[in-house]
Amino acid sequence: MQNIVLNNNVKMPVLGFGVFQLYDAHECYQAVANALGVGYRLIDTAQAYNNEVEVGKAIKDSSVPRDEIFLTSKIWVSNSGYEKAMASLELSLQRLGTDYIDLMLIHQPFGDYYGSYRALQDALAQGKCRAIGVSNFYADRLVDLCNFVDIKPQVNQMETHVFQQQSALRPYLDKFKVQLESWGPFAEGKNNFFKNPVLLRIAARKDRSVAQIALRFLIQNGIIAIPKSSHVERMEENFDIFDFELTQSEMNLIRSLDTKRSVFCDHQDPEFVQALADIVLK
Ligand SMILES: NC(=O)c1ccc[n+]([C@@H]2O[C@H](COP(=O)([O-])OP(=O)(O)OC[C@H]3O[C@@H](n4cnc5c(N)ncnc54)[C@H](OP(=O)(O)O)[C@@H]3O)[C@@H](O)[C@H]2O)c1
Repeated sequence: MQNIVLNNNVKMPVLGFGVFQLYDAHECYQAVANALGVGYRLIDTAQAYNNEVEVGKAIKDSSVPRDEIFLTSKIWVSNSGYEKAMASLELSLQRLGTDYIDLMLIHQPFGDYYGSYRALQDALAQGKCRAIGVSNFYADRLVDLCNFVDIKPQVNQMETHVFQQQSALRPYLDKFKVQLESWGPFAEGKNNFFKNPVLLRIAARKDRSVAQIALRFLIQNGIIAIPKSSHVERMEENFDIFDFELTQSEMNLIRSLDTKRSVFCDHQDPEFVQALADIVLK
């Protein structure tokens, strides 16, 4: 597995497995067990996914040593603020059955995320995390955060795929040496992702699948990806992307698919921010 070296010298696998929407306990446990069997060593969960216990159990029951696994979780908005974030991190450690989390992220740039971030800095110093970061921080919030904290985030996990390539954010990630990690690398299939004519044409030429082309595009762009699947044959397919390369002209063709917009929600839309606050505060 290729690794990327984060700005604090911690190594992170370039490809991992995400467990969003694996709400059924047995399904989640089995998916993580299968993913580890296929060879994935980066597992991405979150407090909000309600499956940290199953993720931890699958890791514990596997034959893979804990120190070969890179485990990510995220602090949810309802746990924002120093005390709540720290208490929720302790709970995540308990649920995951581990004494450290490799990467702890702030899930959304809402609520008292500065307080949460101070908790993460302390958790890092105490060895409860090996790396810290943020998620869904568009350029304005990222620049602000990076200017006013002691430790720059190691990672920003963002919706990133062929239709949303985060081109406006990337110069600021470079400036502050924050690693981009893609969530939703297949846009969850939206916009007819798997039938896109450009991706289909390149896939046919390379004798690969659309999923493999889409992941390869991200990785060749220096972006970490964490695709989710409940099917073991798709986990294998998504993992099998290290023995081919896209040419410059193929990369440019895929670059032309960028709409520079989310296919899910706009984190800078006040109505979305209000709707999320309503869920959290109810
Ligand atoms: N930080 C955040 O706010 C945030 C938000 C969303 C997601 N995430 C993280 O990112 C991870 C990935 O994103 P995601 O789960 O939203 O979406 P995704 O990985 O873009 O797409 C998952 C969908 O693609 C299908 N799929 C997977 N491999 C396939 C293949 N080879 N061929 C055809 N279909 C395939 C899956 O179906 P099957 O399962 O039926 O195979 C599932 O419906 C999440 O699991 C989570 O860890 C983070």
